[in-house]
Amino acid sequence: MSNQYLVEPCLDFVEQVASLGGDSVKKCYQCATCTVACTIAPDNSPFPRKEMIATSWGLKDRVLGSADIWMCHECGDCSELCPRGAQPADVLSAARSAAITEYATPKFLGKMVNDAKMLPLFLGIPAAWFALMAFITMTMGESMEKLFKGFGMHWHHHTDAPIASADFVSSWLVDVTFVPLLNLSILIFLIGLIKFVKDIHANAVLEGKTDKTDFNLVQYLVSVVKAIPTIMLHKKFNECGENKSRALAHQMVLFGFIGCFIVTAIFFVVLYIGGVAGPYDQINPVKILANIAGVGIVVGSFLMIKDRLAKSEPSSFKDWALLVLVFGLGATGMLTQGVRLLGYIDGLVGIAQVVSYFFYYIHLILIFCLFAYLPFSKMAHIVYRVAALGYAEYANRK
Ligand code: HEM
Ligand code: SF4
Ligand code: SF4
Repeated sequence: MSNQYLVEPCLDFVEQVASLGGDSVKKCYQCATCTVACTIAPDNSPFPRKEMIATSWGLKDRVLGSADIWMCHECGDCSELCPRGAQPADVLSAARSAAITEYATPKFLGKMVNDAKMLPLFLGIPAAWFALMAFITMTMGESMEKLFKGFGMHWHHHTDAPIASADFVSSWLVDVTFVPLLNLSILIFLIGLIKFVKDIHANAVLEGKTDKTDFNLVQYLVSVVKAIPTIMLHKKFNECGENKSRALAHQMVLFGFIGCFIVTAIFFVVLYIGGVAGPYDQINPVKILANIAGVGIVVGSFLMIKDRLAKSEPSSFKDWALLVLVFGLGATGMLTQGVRLLGYIDGLVGIAQVVSYFFYYIHLILIFCLFAYLPFSKMAHIVYRVAALGYAEYANRK
């Protein structure tokens, strides 16, 4: 007996995908060239043709709750060969953004983060916050020192460097901002992930993409761990035909972020447990790792920007927002340090201090954007892709 499926079109969803850069979906006439072209689509129920029809019919749950949209690596092979110019790669990318909004809490924030008109507000919040933090650090140092002494702690972390970013915005104020923000993002991700994994499993059962009708959490988590080497080595990226160079650029950015994360964790422990403040010597291994990671982020994201500029179709706001954020994070981090080092040259301390603080201010604003908007922006792919690729491993969907 065949399974019956009640079609309940959601026209808002079609509009949402169109507004996120997938308006070409209506051009699709279901020839399936894209599915044949895709080298990473599995043989059983391959993509992206079925996602094209499901999107144009407004089958929101079928599209957003499918792990397949996250298996696509946006190489563009399908779009190159599509005889109708329906740009399936862009439609899947737009569907992924819609999925990020769908699984984020609160949803309205997801919609706002992808709306270019809201950018001044989203940049204005951290800009005002860090201006206030800088004001407190630079004008209230003595009162804060007294207050901290009352708790047996020091407000100032001693350093011999002529210029230190912590003299502009105190490390305490930086961490009191970012630690809760990151934890809140992790919590929002966890809430979204529980629903996401439930949905992608239900979708896989419905579409016959897995024979595991019951869901086993432990086995699923083991599969996520098993998928990690494939993700790190960018095996799927390398399977794509067009734009293979993207794999190297993405690897530089990914490992750059991992490097920066390790450096920040070490810095945090050494500061609050060891009581030793930065900036570190340039020959300190932690500093060397930080610089390699920073160069990786700057060069990798620069290559990604170059790739996007070379595309014939214009990219959407969400794509540029991510790229500019990543490049900006790397560039302002490196510039803050580079200009700070000029402070060791006689006569340059004054100007180097102002310029270095300026870059640090922009750097802090961008880190705030990264952490606060993480579950709502395209950056959320780091979590949903890992969850979906882990599910593909679990469902033996290769
Ligand atoms: C800290 C970790 C990560 C960072 C900083 C990062 C950064 C980025 C950036 C900036 C882009 C945009 C490329 C463009 O617009 O041309 C991108 C795209 C992509 N990333 Fe990541 N990524 C990370 C983790 C991951 C992980 C874990 C995966 C898992 C497979 C992944 C898979 C992809 C794929 C397939 C694309 C291309 C498709 C798309 O633009 O959505 N990334 N990443
Ligand atoms: S997206 Fe293009 S290639 Fe794919 S089915 Fe539609 S018309 Fe054919
Ligand atoms: S963009 Fe590449 S990976 Fe994605 S569906 Fe098209 S061919 Fe497949």
